[in-house]
Amino acid sequence: MSDAQAGQIDTVMHEERLFPPPPEFAAAAHIGSLDAYQRLWDEAAADTEAFWEKLAREELHWFQPFDQVLDWNPPFAKWFVGGKTNVSYNCLDVHLDTPRQNKAAILWEGEPGDQRTLTYQELHREVCKFANVLKGLGVGQGDVVSIYMGMTPELAIACLACARIGAVHSVIFGGFSSEAIADRNNDASAKLQITADAGWRRGAELPLKETVDAALAKSPTVEKCVVLRRTGAEVNMVEGRDFWWDDLMDEASADCPAAELDSEAPLFILYTSGSTGKPKGIKHTTAGYNLYTKMTSRWVFDLKDEDIYWCTADVGWITGHSYILYGPLSNGATVVMYEGAPNWPDEGRFWEIVEKYRVTIFYTAPTAIRAFIKWGDEFVRRSDLSSLRLLGTVGEGINPEAWMWYHKTIGGERCPIVDTWWQTETGGIMMTPLPGAIPTKPGSCTKPLPGIVPAVVDETGQPVDEGHGGMLIITRPWPGMLRGIWGDDERYVQQYWSTVPGNYLCGDNARCDRDGYYWIMGRIDDVLNVSGHRLSTIEIESALVSHEHVAEAAAVGKPHELKGEAIAVFVTLRDVEPSDALRDELKQHVRKEIGALAQPDDVRFTGALPKTRSGKIMRRLLRDIASGKEEVGDTTTLEDYSVLASLREDEE
Ligand code: WTA
Repeated sequence: MSDAQAGQIDTVMHEERLFPPPPEFAAAAHIGSLDAYQRLWDEAAADTEAFWEKLAREELHWFQPFDQVLDWNPPFAKWFVGGKTNVSYNCLDVHLDTPRQNKAAILWEGEPGDQRTLTYQELHREVCKFANVLKGLGVGQGDVVSIYMGMTPELAIACLACARIGAVHSVIFGGFSSEAIADRNNDASAKLQITADAGWRRGAELPLKETVDAALAKSPTVEKCVVLRRTGAEVNMVEGRDFWWDDLMDEASADCPAAELDSEAPLFILYTSGSTGKPKGIKHTTAGYNLYTKMTSRWVFDLKDEDIYWCTADVGWITGHSYILYGPLSNGATVVMYEGAPNWPDEGRFWEIVEKYRVTIFYTAPTAIRAFIKWGDEFVRRSDLSSLRLLGTVGEGINPEAWMWYHKTIGGERCPIVDTWWQTETGGIMMTPLPGAIPTKPGSCTKPLPGIVPAVVDETGQPVDEGHGGMLIITRPWPGMLRGIWGDDERYVQQYWSTVPGNYLCGDNARCDRDGYYWIMGRIDDVLNVSGHRLSTIEIESALVSHEHVAEAAAVGKPHELKGEAIAVFVTLRDVEPSDALRDELKQHVRKEIGALAQPDDVRFTGALPKTRSGKIMRRLLRDIASGKEEVGDTTTLEDYSVLASLREDEE
């Protein structure tokens, strides 16, 4: 494509211009043409169970083969029933005694610049040792292990060690507060905590152990805590409860055969926000998740043995679980893992890493891309990015302008971009332009992967017309699907499977165009997407209301240049007058209750919140006010016009 064409950013949206896969890329790709994709998709649609059965038998190691592909008792699914396998075995042991045994599994770089390489054999050894450490601490099959660490190789080791013995990991993102950790620990009845003294972030130490100490004071089920020495920070070690990682590893045997686990043995819980205040523990299990992440990694990233693959997500999110750990390692890939911030010591850090490790596949979030654009191209130009052959995005839709920048400035106009739509609940990527097969339209996640049959429907469950918006559903079970919400089957049924009975409700709106391309249009519930992270408005409101001076609160999203959405909150007070000091205090309060990622950008005080006659907070109105739109929509149902008037005045 010429520069003149690439420059037509403004017209991309109207033209629905297509970017076909580059012919050289397609020629070497696992799925190399639209026809090949269509054949595979048709085959999977015609007999979905046969499609997955064949792959499961070929791609996973079975200690005992399964005798039933799917037991579907809607909405409860069991995949590969009767089989016994182990995810850690499929990620590690299968590569031993092959030429991959001395291949780098993880190329790790710490924020201060330290480096470590773990070959498959070395990673296997560390995982076996740590699995024995876990056993030694009394952790057994089905026990929940809570992990709150920075992005160090030990985080991967800890997860794989849990998988090896059938313990269930619950990784909690390092940006969450002690309150949030305690909530999650209690919901899951976690038995063991793993953390680090601290983590590096933009040159500063993130006090992980200190935060965990506060969380453990409120986590009665957690008996012991393993602490990795990362920064050397002074920490408080509680005798009999806290143990240093390296002390335990020094003593541990490297002999630990993988447990032969049932296909449906729980692998992990990952908490995510939904439309109520309480985070949901999304449950994923062994065989189906393993197969789904393995196949989607290969198809979507076109993974080859010679690739150097870098997903910049944190393992604290589903993207890190599926596409740093389980998917790529099952394929025997070399994975780059970076500990720190993209702008440390300066804004060129990511591109230096790409050049240094000769990264070929780069997977990041639109919010990061918007930051790169803002920081300026000079940081990109300093590094040689010619090793890149494929780019990806995840977490939110990518606006065409950012897509064009990514395509030109990072991809040198030669790399396909896979815009991957999926969710914590789906386990793996559901829709994306397969890079050798599906022409891309910037801003569209294009088509479903083989075995995935989506639809767009109205409130009655009827399909809407082509080009019209509606609720996105998935009409068939798939191996990577969530198996439930930890300890709350009722909520699982109600939230995902009741709106359109028998179908999975994603919670996103979408439309499908005349070419069968899907366009995600945002959430149908009160979930915000801040920098690609899901936050529920109700969680933020509950945090605010827990403050002694807050009577009532409403949180809404407003457009933000970098974060996609920023949080604006409207607060009514009791006993005190509004002040700037209180505004700051409330921001800090939310930070303390949930974590830095949930800190509101705006706090607005109001005498009352605008409500409908039935008492519902008028969120649309608040959103319009928060984003500074002049048109505030139809207000005739407002309970109290004076509220709106005074909120508007406040804005002046
Ligand atoms: C949004 C992240 C548009 C969507 C893997 C979804 C996207 C939620 C995309 C899941 C995309 C994710 N285009 N929207 N490519 N990817 N989303 O659970 O609203 O953290 O429902 O999983 O992010 O977020 P989650």
